[in-house]
Amino acid sequence: MPFSRYKKAKIYFTEIGKGSTVILLHGFLETSLMWKDFLPSLSQKHRVLCIDLPGHGQSECFGYTHSMDDMAGCVLAVLKTLRIRKAKLIGHSMGGYVALAFADLYPDYTKGICLFFSTSRADSVQKKKNRSRAISVVKENHTSFIRVAIPLLFRSKFRKLKKEAIKSVKEEALKTSKQGVIAALEGMKRRPSREILLKFPPYPIHIVSGKKDPIIPVSTMEKQMNRSENVSGIILNKPGHMGHIEAPEECLRELMWFIKK
Ligand code: MLT
Repeated sequence: MPFSRYKKAKIYFTEIGKGSTVILLHGFLETSLMWKDFLPSLSQKHRVLCIDLPGHGQSECFGYTHSMDDMAGCVLAVLKTLRIRKAKLIGHSMGGYVALAFADLYPDYTKGICLFFSTSRADSVQKKKNRSRAISVVKENHTSFIRVAIPLLFRSKFRKLKKEAIKSVKEEALKTSKQGVIAALEGMKRRPSREILLKFPPYPIHIVSGKKDPIIPVSTMEKQMNRSENVSGIILNKPGHMGHIEAPEECLRELMWFIKK
Protein backbone atom coordinates (compact mmCIF):
# COMPACT_ATOMS: atom_id res chain seq x y z
CA MET A 1 0.00 0.00 0.00
CA PRO A 2 1.41 3.48 -0.83
CA PHE A 3 1.85 5.10 2.57
CA SER A 4 4.22 7.69 3.96
CA ARG A 5 4.56 8.65 7.65
CA TYR A 6 4.15 11.94 9.49
CA LYS A 7 4.45 12.03 13.30
CA LYS A 8 4.07 8.25 13.16
CA ALA A 9 0.68 8.49 11.41
CA LYS A 10 0.20 6.74 8.08
CA ILE A 11 -0.39 9.12 5.19
CA TYR A 12 -1.97 7.53 2.15
CA PHE A 13 -1.32 8.63 -1.41
CA THR A 14 -1.82 7.45 -4.96
CA GLU A 15 0.42 8.04 -7.94
CA ILE A 16 -0.30 7.97 -11.68
CA GLY A 17 1.45 9.17 -14.86
CA LYS A 18 4.91 10.39 -15.78
CA GLY A 19 6.40 13.89 -16.09
CA SER A 20 6.73 16.84 -13.76
CA THR A 21 4.84 16.35 -10.50
CA VAL A 22 1.40 17.72 -9.69
CA ILE A 23 -0.07 17.19 -6.22
CA LEU A 24 -3.82 17.17 -5.71
CA LEU A 25 -5.13 18.02 -2.24
CA HIS A 26 -8.78 17.46 -1.34
CA GLY A 27 -10.93 19.62 0.92
CA PHE A 28 -12.51 19.15 4.34
CA LEU A 29 -14.47 15.85 4.62
CA GLU A 30 -13.27 14.79 1.18
CA THR A 31 -10.63 12.27 0.12
CA SER A 32 -8.28 11.77 -2.82
CA LEU A 33 -11.25 10.13 -4.59
CA MET A 34 -12.67 13.58 -5.35
CA TRP A 35 -10.17 13.86 -8.22
CA LYS A 36 -10.96 10.53 -9.90
CA ASP A 37 -12.73 11.95 -12.99
CA PHE A 38 -9.90 14.43 -13.62
CA LEU A 39 -7.04 11.96 -13.29
CA PRO A 40 -7.03 10.53 -16.85
CA SER A 41 -6.58 14.03 -18.34
CA LEU A 42 -4.25 15.45 -15.68
CA SER A 43 -1.94 12.44 -15.79
CA GLN A 44 -1.50 12.37 -19.58
CA LYS A 45 1.77 14.31 -19.36
CA HIS A 46 2.33 14.64 -15.62
CA ARG A 47 3.08 12.54 -12.58
CA VAL A 48 0.02 13.12 -10.42
CA LEU A 49 -0.04 12.42 -6.69
CA CYS A 50 -3.28 12.45 -4.72
CA ILE A 51 -2.82 12.60 -0.97
CA ASP A 52 -5.38 11.81 1.73
CA LEU A 53 -4.83 14.58 4.28
CA PRO A 54 -4.54 13.38 7.92
CA GLY A 55 -7.78 12.13 9.47
CA HIS A 56 -9.36 11.83 6.02
CA GLY A 57 -9.73 8.81 3.73
CA GLN A 58 -7.07 6.23 4.50
CA SER A 59 -4.72 8.58 6.39
CA GLU A 60 -4.50 8.40 10.16
CA CYS A 61 -4.88 11.15 12.78
CA PHE A 62 -1.96 12.33 14.93
CA GLY A 63 -3.39 15.00 17.22
CA TYR A 64 -6.29 17.03 18.54
CA THR A 65 -5.44 19.73 15.98
CA HIS A 66 -4.22 19.09 12.46
CA SER A 67 -2.80 22.49 11.61
CA MET A 68 -2.41 23.49 7.98
CA ASP A 69 1.37 23.53 8.63
CA ASP A 70 1.23 19.94 9.88
CA MET A 71 -0.82 18.94 6.86
CA ALA A 72 1.82 20.60 4.67
CA GLY A 73 4.37 18.50 6.58
CA CYS A 74 2.45 15.40 5.46
CA VAL A 75 2.75 16.55 1.84
CA LEU A 76 6.50 17.02 2.30
CA ALA A 77 6.75 13.54 3.85
CA VAL A 78 5.17 12.05 0.71
CA LEU A 79 7.55 14.01 -1.53
CA LYS A 80 10.51 12.80 0.51
CA THR A 81 9.27 9.19 0.33
CA LEU A 82 9.18 9.50 -3.47
CA ARG A 83 12.34 11.65 -3.66
CA ILE A 84 10.58 14.43 -5.53
CA ARG A 85 12.23 17.87 -5.40
CA LYS A 86 9.57 20.18 -6.80
CA ALA A 87 5.86 20.09 -7.52
CA LYS A 88 2.83 22.12 -8.50
CA LEU A 89 0.04 21.91 -5.96
CA ILE A 90 -3.69 22.11 -6.59
CA GLY A 91 -5.83 22.35 -3.47
CA HIS A 92 -9.58 22.28 -3.15
CA SER A 93 -10.70 24.60 -0.34
CA MET A 94 -8.96 23.24 2.80
CA GLY A 95 -6.49 21.61 0.39
CA GLY A 96 -5.74 25.14 -0.87
CA TYR A 97 -4.97 26.29 2.68
CA VAL A 98 -2.54 23.37 2.89
CA ALA A 99 -0.99 24.23 -0.49
CA LEU A 100 -0.37 27.80 0.74
CA ALA A 101 1.15 26.54 3.99
CA PHE A 102 3.39 24.24 1.96
CA ALA A 103 4.52 27.07 -0.32
CA ASP A 104 5.19 29.28 2.70
CA LEU A 105 7.20 26.65 4.59
CA TYR A 106 8.87 24.87 1.69
CA PRO A 107 9.28 27.40 -1.16
CA ASP A 108 12.13 25.41 -2.68
CA TYR A 109 9.79 22.51 -3.28
CA THR A 110 7.05 24.68 -4.80
CA LYS A 111 6.59 25.13 -8.54
CA GLY A 112 3.14 26.67 -8.49
CA ILE A 113 -0.16 26.73 -6.62
CA CYS A 114 -3.73 26.53 -7.78
CA LEU A 115 -6.32 27.65 -5.24
CA PHE A 116 -9.36 25.69 -6.32
CA PHE A 117 -12.37 27.23 -4.53
CA SER A 118 -10.04 28.31 -1.75
CA THR A 119 -8.72 31.50 -0.18
CA SER A 120 -5.46 32.90 1.16
CA ARG A 121 -7.25 34.72 3.99
CA ALA A 122 -7.64 33.54 7.56
CA ASP A 123 -11.08 32.89 9.07
CA SER A 124 -13.04 35.99 10.04
CA VAL A 125 -13.98 36.42 13.72
CA GLN A 126 -17.49 35.19 12.88
CA LYS A 127 -16.18 32.17 11.00
CA LYS A 128 -13.95 31.22 13.94
CA LYS A 129 -17.03 31.34 16.19
CA ASN A 130 -18.92 29.14 13.72
CA ARG A 131 -16.04 26.65 13.75
CA SER A 132 -16.09 26.49 17.58
CA ARG A 133 -19.84 25.89 17.46
CA ALA A 134 -19.35 23.22 14.79
CA ILE A 135 -16.72 21.50 16.98
CA SER A 136 -19.23 21.30 19.86
CA VAL A 137 -21.83 19.78 17.52
CA VAL A 138 -19.28 17.28 16.19
CA LYS A 139 -18.37 16.23 19.74
CA GLU A 140 -22.06 15.38 20.32
CA ASN A 141 -22.75 13.65 17.02
CA HIS A 142 -20.29 13.86 14.17
CA THR A 143 -22.34 11.91 11.64
CA SER A 144 -25.33 14.24 11.86
CA PHE A 145 -22.91 17.18 11.45
CA ILE A 146 -21.58 15.58 8.24
CA ARG A 147 -25.08 14.84 6.90
CA VAL A 148 -26.05 18.50 7.31
CA ALA A 149 -22.70 19.99 6.20
CA ILE A 150 -22.24 18.23 2.84
CA PRO A 151 -25.29 19.55 0.91
CA LEU A 152 -24.44 23.07 2.10
CA LEU A 153 -21.22 22.95 0.06
CA PHE A 154 -23.29 22.93 -3.13
CA ARG A 155 -25.06 25.78 -4.82
CA SER A 156 -28.77 25.48 -3.93
CA LYS A 157 -29.89 24.71 -7.51
CA PHE A 158 -27.50 21.76 -7.65
CA ARG A 159 -28.78 20.22 -4.40
CA LYS A 160 -31.67 18.70 -6.41
CA LEU A 161 -29.94 18.30 -9.78
CA LYS A 162 -26.89 16.48 -8.37
CA LYS A 163 -28.66 14.31 -5.78
CA GLU A 164 -26.73 11.14 -6.61
CA ALA A 165 -23.35 12.86 -6.61
CA ILE A 166 -24.13 14.54 -3.28
CA LYS A 167 -25.13 11.15 -1.86
CA SER A 168 -21.77 9.65 -2.75
CA VAL A 169 -19.83 12.67 -1.42
CA LYS A 170 -21.78 12.25 1.83
CA GLU A 171 -21.10 8.51 1.99
CA GLU A 172 -17.38 9.14 1.57
CA ALA A 173 -17.45 11.96 4.15
CA LEU A 174 -19.22 9.74 6.69
CA LYS A 175 -16.08 7.59 6.81
CA THR A 176 -14.19 10.51 8.44
CA SER A 177 -13.64 9.82 12.14
CA LYS A 178 -14.79 12.23 14.84
CA GLN A 179 -11.16 13.04 15.64
CA GLY A 180 -10.43 13.70 11.96
CA VAL A 181 -13.34 16.15 11.68
CA ILE A 182 -12.46 18.03 14.88
CA ALA A 183 -8.73 18.17 14.12
CA ALA A 184 -9.37 19.68 10.68
CA LEU A 185 -11.89 22.23 12.02
CA GLU A 186 -9.39 23.28 14.71
CA GLY A 187 -6.61 23.49 12.12
CA MET A 188 -8.67 25.64 9.75
CA LYS A 189 -9.84 27.89 12.60
CA ARG A 190 -6.29 28.60 13.71
CA ARG A 191 -4.72 29.04 10.29
CA PRO A 192 -2.98 32.37 9.63
CA SER A 193 -3.64 34.63 6.66
CA ARG A 194 -1.29 33.83 3.78
CA GLU A 195 -2.37 36.71 1.58
CA ILE A 196 1.21 37.99 1.54
CA LEU A 197 2.17 35.04 -0.67
CA LEU A 198 0.05 36.55 -3.46
CA LYS A 199 2.19 39.69 -3.57
CA PHE A 200 5.25 38.71 -5.57
CA PRO A 201 5.27 34.94 -5.80
CA PRO A 202 8.30 33.45 -7.54
CA TYR A 203 5.99 30.80 -9.05
CA PRO A 204 2.58 30.95 -10.76
CA ILE A 205 -0.54 31.09 -8.60
CA HIS A 206 -3.88 30.46 -10.28
CA ILE A 207 -7.16 31.05 -8.48
CA VAL A 208 -10.35 29.30 -9.58
CA SER A 209 -13.51 30.54 -7.85
CA GLY A 210 -17.24 30.00 -8.11
CA LYS A 211 -19.54 32.99 -8.42
CA LYS A 212 -22.07 31.24 -6.17
CA ASP A 213 -19.65 29.70 -3.68
CA PRO A 214 -21.56 29.53 -0.37
CA ILE A 215 -18.38 28.91 1.67
CA ILE A 216 -15.86 31.35 0.17
CA PRO A 217 -17.57 34.58 -0.92
CA VAL A 218 -16.60 35.63 -4.42
CA SER A 219 -16.29 39.27 -3.27
CA THR A 220 -13.27 38.33 -1.13
CA MET A 221 -11.73 36.35 -3.99
CA GLU A 222 -11.92 39.16 -6.56
CA LYS A 223 -9.60 41.15 -4.30
CA GLN A 224 -7.04 38.35 -4.24
CA MET A 225 -6.80 37.90 -8.01
CA ASN A 226 -4.41 39.47 -10.52
CA ARG A 227 -2.35 41.14 -7.79
CA SER A 228 0.91 40.60 -9.60
CA GLU A 229 2.21 39.20 -12.83
CA ASN A 230 2.37 35.68 -11.48
CA VAL A 231 -1.15 35.62 -10.03
CA SER A 232 -4.04 34.80 -12.34
CA GLY A 233 -7.64 34.12 -11.52
CA ILE A 234 -11.02 33.24 -12.92
CA ILE A 235 -14.52 33.38 -11.50
CA LEU A 236 -16.69 30.67 -12.97
CA ASN A 237 -20.37 31.58 -13.25
CA LYS A 238 -21.87 28.14 -12.75
CA PRO A 239 -20.41 26.47 -9.67
CA GLY A 240 -20.79 26.91 -5.94
CA HIS A 241 -18.04 25.40 -3.80
CA MET A 242 -17.94 21.98 -5.48
CA GLY A 243 -16.81 22.95 -8.96
CA HIS A 244 -15.45 19.50 -9.82
CA ILE A 245 -19.07 18.24 -9.60
CA GLU A 246 -21.03 21.38 -10.49
CA ALA A 247 -18.96 22.50 -13.51
CA PRO A 248 -16.47 19.70 -14.26
CA GLU A 249 -15.57 20.70 -17.84
CA GLU A 250 -14.79 24.32 -16.95
CA CYS A 251 -12.80 23.25 -13.90
CA LEU A 252 -10.78 20.65 -15.76
CA ARG A 253 -9.97 23.23 -18.44
CA GLU A 254 -8.58 25.57 -15.76
CA LEU A 255 -6.54 22.86 -14.07
CA MET A 256 -5.10 21.69 -17.41
CA TRP A 257 -4.13 25.28 -18.23
CA PHE A 258 -2.43 25.66 -14.85
CA ILE A 259 -0.41 22.46 -15.04
CA LYS A 260 0.77 23.24 -18.59
CA LYS A 261 1.77 26.82 -17.67
C1 MLT B 1 -13.64 22.80 2.57
O1 MLT B 1 -14.45 22.55 1.66
O2 MLT B 1 -12.50 22.33 2.58
C2 MLT B 1 -14.09 23.66 3.73
O3 MLT B 1 -15.45 23.91 3.64
C3 MLT B 1 -13.31 24.92 3.82
C4 MLT B 1 -13.69 25.79 4.97
O4 MLT B 1 -14.57 25.44 5.75
O5 MLT B 1 -13.07 26.86 5.13
